[in-house]
Amino acid sequence: MSMASMSSAIFFITISLLVSSLLSATIVEDLNNLRPPPDFNTTIFNNCLNNPSLKYCNSSPMDLNEIFKSTIVASHLCNESKNPNCVETFPKIDLRNRPKITPLYLSFNFFWKYCPLTIMSIDLSNNSLKGIFPSDVLLCNQIQNLDLSFNHFSGDIPLLNFSYLSNLTNLNLSYNHFSELKISDSNLFQRFNSSSFIHSGLLPSHQNYTIKTIILLVGFPLFVVLSVGCLGWLCFARPDFLPRVLNRNHKFTTWMLKAATDGFLKKNLVMKNVGVSIYKGVLRDGTKVKIEIYRDNVSRENLRKFVEECKILVQMRHKNLVQVLGWCSNRRMRSLVTEWTDGENIELWLAGSAPSWKHRLKILIGVVESMFYMQEQWPQVGYDLSTSSVLLSDHLEPLISRFKIGDRRSNYTANYIYKFGLLLLEMIANRRPSEEFERGEAGFIEYIRMHYPGNLRVVIDERMKLTENTFDQAKLGIGLGLMCTDQKAGKIPSLDEIYHMIVKVYRSCLVFTSENYKGSHSHGNAGQGHKGIQLR
Ligand SMILES: *[C@@H]1O[C@H](CO)[C@@H](O)[C@H](O)[C@H]1NC(C)=O
Ligand SMILES: *[C@@H]1O[C@H](CO)[C@@H](O)[C@H](O)[C@H]1NC(C)=O
Ligand SMILES: *[C@@H]1O[C@H](CO)[C@@H](O)[C@H](O)[C@H]1NC(C)=O
Ligand SMILES: *[C@@H]1O[C@H](CO)[C@@H](O)[C@H](O)[C@H]1NC(C)=O
Ligand SMILES: *[C@@H]1O[C@H](CO)[C@@H](O)[C@H](O)[C@H]1NC(C)=O
Ligand SMILES: *[C@@H]1O[C@H](CO)[C@@H](O)[C@H](O)[C@H]1NC(C)=O
Ligand SMILES: *[C@@H]1O[C@H](CO)[C@@H](O)[C@H](O)[C@H]1NC(C)=O
Repeated sequence: MSMASMSSAIFFITISLLVSSLLSATIVEDLNNLRPPPDFNTTIFNNCLNNPSLKYCNSSPMDLNEIFKSTIVASHLCNESKNPNCVETFPKIDLRNRPKITPLYLSFNFFWKYCPLTIMSIDLSNNSLKGIFPSDVLLCNQIQNLDLSFNHFSGDIPLLNFSYLSNLTNLNLSYNHFSELKISDSNLFQRFNSSSFIHSGLLPSHQNYTIKTIILLVGFPLFVVLSVGCLGWLCFARPDFLPRVLNRNHKFTTWMLKAATDGFLKKNLVMKNVGVSIYKGVLRDGTKVKIEIYRDNVSRENLRKFVEECKILVQMRHKNLVQVLGWCSNRRMRSLVTEWTDGENIELWLAGSAPSWKHRLKILIGVVESMFYMQEQWPQVGYDLSTSSVLLSDHLEPLISRFKIGDRRSNYTANYIYKFGLLLLEMIANRRPSEEFERGEAGFIEYIRMHYPGNLRVVIDERMKLTENTFDQAKLGIGLGLMCTDQKAGKIPSLDEIYHMIVKVYRSCLVFTSENYKGSHSHGNAGQGHKGIQLR
C-alpha cells in the first residue's frame, strides 16, 4: 500500500512540475502544448502494478496521450476546486457557482473516463447548465456526493448508471427541469428522499395531479354545461343555424329577425305606421323577405289566435299568393314574415305604365285562379282584392298579399265576386272610386252603369287604344263587372262562369292582336297593332 501511494505520488509530482513550469498558460494551451514525458509509459505501468483499480489500467488499448491529458485537467481542476495539496489528494470537484468554466471541464470526457479515484464529491450546482444529464460525470462511480442542483438540465436521467454508484449517499438534483419519473420505474426514490429532488421535475407533482383533477371534475362538467347551454341558446334564438331537421319550421325568433334586418336598421325600414313597421330583410339562406312588425300589447288569447292563424297562412301555396314564410310572436310584438316582392301594386301599375288590354286580362285571369284556390283549399281564410293590395311579381303575375282569418261571412262567395267585379271595372276604367267619387264604390259603379252600354268610350281607359274588336271585348268585360257588382239582381255569376268568360275574351284578344299585327303590316301601317304585339 505504501509502495502504491509512493509511485502515484511520484507520478503526480512529475505532472505538477510540468504544469507549474507554465504557470500562466491556460488549461487549453496546456492541453495543446504539453506532451507526455518519455518515461510516461513506465510510470503508468508501475502505477497499475501498484494500484490496479486505477481507471486507466483496465482500458485497452491504453491511450497514453489521453491519459496524460487527463492528468493535466486533473491538476487544473483540483486547483480550481481549492483542494489542499493538489494533486496528491483530490477529494472533491467543487465547481459551485462557476458557470463560466464548468462547461469546459464537462467537455473533457477523457478526464471523466480516467476519473481519479481520490474524488469522493462532485458539486456542479448553480451553474445554469443546459441540456441533457451530464452522464460522463457518473463515470466517477466511486463518488459519495453528487450535487447538480440549480441548473437547467432537462430530459431523462440515466437511471441504470445510477445503480452502479453503490457508494453514493448524497444526491441533489433539485431545481432542474428533468422529465417526470414514474415511481414504479425507479429505486432512486428508495435510496434518496424527496429533499434530493425538490423542484427537479422528476417527482410526480401532486399539484399537477390536483390541477388535472380539478380540470376533470370541474372543467369537464362546465364544458358540457356550456356546450349544452350554447346549443340550447342556438335552438332557442337562432334555429336557422341548426341543421334543417332540427329547425322548427316557420317559427322565427327576434334574434333571427334582428339578424335579417341588420338589427332593425333604419335603412331597411320600408314603412312605418302607428303600431306597425315594415322592414325589408335577408334571411341566412339569402331569401329576401318582408317583415311586418306589430308592436302592440295583445292579450295572451289573441297571441294564441295569431299563432294559429299563422300556422294556416304558411301552408297556403299558389303562384298568385304572396308566400307567407313564418311568424314571430312574443309579449312585446307580433311579426309576420313573407316573401319579398319588388313589384308595385295594381293601382300604381295602372296609373304608371298604361298597360295594354291584353295585359290587364292576363292579370285578371291570375286573380280568378287564386280565388279558385282559396275557395277550394282555404275557405276559412279571407283576403283583400283591392287594387292597392294586389301586387305584381317580376313576371307580371298578380299576387294577393293581404289575408284575414276567421273573416267568414254568410254571403262569402257573393262578397268576393263583388270585389272582383269592382277590381275588373277599376282595371278597365283606371279610376279610384274612393278618391274620385263622392259615394265611393257605389258612386263609381253607378257612374259606369249610367254610361252602359251606349257611351262606354267615356268610361274606358283611353290609353289602352282599343280597336273596334278589343273595344267590344272591353264592353263585355264591363258587362261582367256590372253583373258581379249588382247585388240586387238575384243571380250573380259563379267563379266558374267568370273564369271561362275572361279566358275566352283573352284568347280572342290574342287572335285579334296577332291578326291586327299581320294586317297592319300588310297595309304598311305600323300603328297600334304593332304596339300590341310588342307588349306581350
Ligand atoms: C508501454 O510499455 C509496455 C510495457 O513496457 C509495452 O508493452 C507497450 O508497448 C508500451 N507502449 C507504448 C505506447 O510505448
Ligand atoms: C493553483 O492555484 C494557485 C492559486 O490559487 C495558482 O497560483 C496556481 O498557479 C494554480 N495552479 C494551476 C496548475 O493552475
Ligand atoms: C448562484 O449563483 C449566483 C451568481 O451566479 C449567486 O448570486 C447566487 O447566490 C447563487 N445561489 C446559490 C444558491 O448558491
Ligand atoms: C465503495 O466503497 C468501498 C469501501 O471503501 C469500496 O471497497 C468500493 O470499491 C467502493 N465502490 C465503488 C463503486 O467505488
Ligand atoms: C450508462 O449505462 C449504460 C448501460 O449500462 C452504459 O452503456 C453507459 O456506458 C453508461 N454510461 C455511463 C456514463 O456510465
Ligand atoms: C433526507 O435524507 C437526509 C439524509 O440523506 C436526511 O438528513 C434528511 O433529514 C431527510 N429528509 C427527509 C425529509 O426525510
Ligand atoms: C438540495 O439542495 C436544496 C437547495 O439547496 C436543499 O434545499 C436540499 O436540502 C438539498 N438536498 C439534499 C439531499 O442535500
